[in-house]
Amino acid sequence: MGKVIAFSSIKGGVGKTTCAANFSYLLSSLGYNTLVIDGNLSGANLAMQFGIDLKNANTLHHVMLNRKKVLDAIYLHPKSGLKILPGSIDYELIMKVKAKGLSNTLEKIRDLFDYIILDTPAGINENLLACIEASDEVLGITTQDVASIGETLKLLELCSQLGKEVRGIIINKYNKRFGLLLDQLKKFLGKEIIGVINEDPKVSEATEYLSPVVEIFPRARASRDFNDAVLCYLGMKRKESLVERMFRLFYK
Ligand SMILES: Nc1ncnc2c1ncn2[C@@H]1O[C@H](COP(=O)(O)OP(=O)(O)O)[C@@H](O)[C@H]1O
Ligand SMILES: [Mg+2]
Repeated sequence: MGKVIAFSSIKGGVGKTTCAANFSYLLSSLGYNTLVIDGNLSGANLAMQFGIDLKNANTLHHVMLNRKKVLDAIYLHPKSGLKILPGSIDYELIMKVKAKGLSNTLEKIRDLFDYIILDTPAGINENLLACIEASDEVLGITTQDVASIGETLKLLELCSQLGKEVRGIIINKYNKRFGLLLDQLKKFLGKEIIGVINEDPKVSEATEYLSPVVEIFPRARASRDFNDAVLCYLGMKRKESLVERMFRLFYK
């Protein structure tokens, strides 16, 4: 049975969509049958990461409103084999769709995939609750600033109230010159840190190419961090290069 992972934060702009896109791209490239879904029902923007033109597109909204079959709304990303279920930007569909239907839609397709990554909205609202309910586990996405950490603690509390496991945390836009540092973050959050994705201008630059950074700039700092995060999630470890090993032994 496929595992549904919600990529969540209560705060907006921390990188949920970016992490969901890059993580799912890499899982698919590693050979896992992976679907990424835009679960942000009123602010869908995952499709942009993959250059999917939403004009006349079939979307999750069409599926949830019984206007299309789910398999007719799933797009194949040719290079990675990733499957993408985009959300609609049509005002009429957005107003009609009911977030509660998400679990039902996911139940119908979860057996078809190894992993289903669910991008989620900001804020505590019905949409977020429906995403958490529909998922098997949550990955918390946070940045290192105090405001974001506060919201992440709220997310942890919310998930515990809902009886949902938070598998770990991804710290995004990390910059060792600002905010709380990794060791402090680990102590504060008390959860496994699945990945630390450095702040990297290549991430935004990649969006101009309508591609996740791991596809268009695979050697960029953030891309290497995403690779490490996915391997950590899967319980694997990348082989350290000689230079990295020397750096670790002599400078850390
Ligand atoms: N590691 C990173 N380094 C630099 N910019 C990033 C990084 N991750 C995300 N961003 C940028 O931050 C902005 C918000 O990211 P997004 O994924 O849309 O956040 P959310 O889905 O949480 O609202 C985007 O402009 C994105 O390109
Ligand atoms: Mg988003």
